[in-house]
Amino acid sequence: MQLDQKNVLLGISGGIAAYKTPDLVRKFKATGANVRVVMTDSATEFVSKLALQAVSGNKVSHTMLDEDAEAGMGHIELARWADVFVVAPATANTIAKLAYGLADDLLTTLALATKAPIAIAPAMNQQMWAAPATLTNIDILKSRGVFQIGPGAGEQACGDVGYGRMLEPIEIVEAIASKEFTSTYFEVNEAPILSGLNVMITAGPTREALDPVRYITNHSSGKMGYALATAAKKLGASVTLVSGPVNLKQPDGVNTIQIQSAQDMLDVCLSKVEGQDIFIACAAVADFRLSDIPQHKVKKKEGEDGLTLTFEKNPDILKTVASLDNPPFTLGFAAETQDVEKYATDKLTRKKLNMIAANDVSSSELGFNSDRNALTVITHEKSVKLAPDSKDSLAVELLKLLEQEYRLHKQ
Ligand code: PMT
Repeated sequence: MQLDQKNVLLGISGGIAAYKTPDLVRKFKATGANVRVVMTDSATEFVSKLALQAVSGNKVSHTMLDEDAEAGMGHIELARWADVFVVAPATANTIAKLAYGLADDLLTTLALATKAPIAIAPAMNQQMWAAPATLTNIDILKSRGVFQIGPGAGEQACGDVGYGRMLEPIEIVEAIASKEFTSTYFEVNEAPILSGLNVMITAGPTREALDPVRYITNHSSGKMGYALATAAKKLGASVTLVSGPVNLKQPDGVNTIQIQSAQDMLDVCLSKVEGQDIFIACAAVADFRLSDIPQHKVKKKEGEDGLTLTFEKNPDILKTVASLDNPPFTLGFAAETQDVEKYATDKLTRKKLNMIAANDVSSSELGFNSDRNALTVITHEKSVKLAPDSKDSLAVELLKLLEQEYRLHKQ
């Protein structure tokens, strides 16, 4: 059980879904987790402290100014105790307070005081869920790494129908116990199989200028490449990440170099490739660039309804690196929407690579700009399927396969 002996701090805010929380506590306990509960004032109107105390086996915390509670496990101690802080139900009001760092009750104070990962299970009226303010607050929390569970859609207590229902207790527990959550938020001790190796990774899209104010690009978010960089670092490698423009935090301990165009990416890669043991090309590099980039902004012309642009081929970074005299071990990616493995195998041979990860990008659930992916890893001898999973988990699995192939190659 992924949650066995983990300390789950459950924060209950005041919505009708709070009536489900005794069951939620029971389901967490069934995984082997230790559970403590903190409630807002309004939550106590929907579910009794006594019931939660009975099912959790621990005193329920509710106010900052409770001498007994502070004499027992004080609020800072409680914040430190938690391995994960799950706010369920998370009302629109509590979500807004969490987004803006308010600390006017025990629940929100604990959210600021804890280092534990925070997960929220939103529950509110469908119109409140769809309100721009709520969606902005959710975006703020997600950008800080808060894990969102639901909401689901259906008939609501107020009679409305739509998104806003808190997910069922079992779904919340499964989300927290999932490999996706635990591998991202709990320290997973992997053997440092890449220790002593230098790994260079390209990630994200490239941006090709059309004039000083316009450009073309693609939907790559950089998530897969950044997940690989983070995983390679965790596995002991010394990592250089060459990244196109993305909206992601620089991975800790990774030498990250930001570039714009394919030519920039090639220049940086070639200037740093010496001494690299492994080169992973995960970037979605633009295949073409404008032949002549105008110096000034292109203006609409009277009487002309269209615009014709002439493009030329960009350099192929991966192929260039793989064709060096003493190339690093190369892993390419192949993003395809049809005949995925056939095209990937063709690229493996044509670009003279050691391995390629075939990436079916025909579904919006996987691949470009999604948190999840699935890959078929192809070498000259075999092919291995990595089932759909979070990009973080897949990155670790892919690097384990790469390490085996790298060692064989070096023999
Ligand atoms: O960034 P995310 O949103 O997380 O999405 C991840 C991803 C879908 C972008 C990633 O998993 C992926 O598949 N990356 C490769 C995308 C791609 O451009 O594939 P391709 O088939 O066009 O290129 C084949 C290989 O050559 C790739 O390794 C690519 O990095 C490399 N290439 C391509 C063109 C070029 N000019 N230079 C290159 O190095």
